[in-house]
Amino acid sequence: MYFDTRDYESNWRNIYKLAITFVQPRPIALVSSMSPDGVRNLAPFSFYNMVSGNPPVVMFCPSYRRDSTEKDSLHNVESTGEFVVATVSEQIVERMNRCAYDYTPDVDEFEKSGLTPRPASLVAPPLVADSPANIECKLIEIKRFGTDPGAGNLVFGQIVAIHVDDTVLADDGLPDPAQLQAIGRLGRWTYCKTTDIFDLPRPTQP
Ligand SMILES: Cc1cc2nc3c(=O)[nH]c(=O)nc-3n(C[C@H](O)[C@H](O)[C@H](O)COP(=O)(O)O)c2cc1C
Repeated sequence: MYFDTRDYESNWRNIYKLAITFVQPRPIALVSSMSPDGVRNLAPFSFYNMVSGNPPVVMFCPSYRRDSTEKDSLHNVESTGEFVVATVSEQIVERMNRCAYDYTPDVDEFEKSGLTPRPASLVAPPLVADSPANIECKLIEIKRFGTDPGAGNLVFGQIVAIHVDDTVLADDGLPDPAQLQAIGRLGRWTYCKTTDIFDLPRPTQP
């Protein structure tokens, strides 16, 4: 198969559908944010990663809706400059999925999803107590890729605090994947678990 995507405008949905089936597995950020009026919001984003170590920076990417409006997470982070990212473990995958419904901005998505809020240390949006790992972030900048439906808005946030449940830590003090049980996003309606893993040390000589 070969697909020339330079003239993407009329075809962007098909290109997107195709690309997310091979740009995978993707980690999932469950983003907690707060509206300027104090309404708590949760939404999953699989366009997510850590992109800098020093300073520690993560990014997630809310796209414009089909009617070109901003998703609530984007609006909230833009307005307040703060967000939390919770790791999506197997235990919370169903509740995470409920947060992908397009609720109006006045709806508290902790209440709708059944996930439990816990106060963060340095930012207003709550942590997700049911998740084994949460990071508190302050907005650095937003890089926009246009204003059309589907256009991404790359949100960069500096990690200002990290919370990891002691129960998921291995002897080396880092999270044990077998305990963390993070899930990944594939294409279609498909997800993966992190149970089938292997080690591969870097080469020490050419
Ligand atoms: C696993 C998963 C991953 C998702 N990843 C993204 C993403 O990377 N970017 C995006 O714009 N929407 C993504 N969505 C859809 C949003 O979660 C959905 O539009 C949500 O309603 C946005 O909520 P908000 O308006 O409260 O921000 C994803 C949905 C799921 C279930």
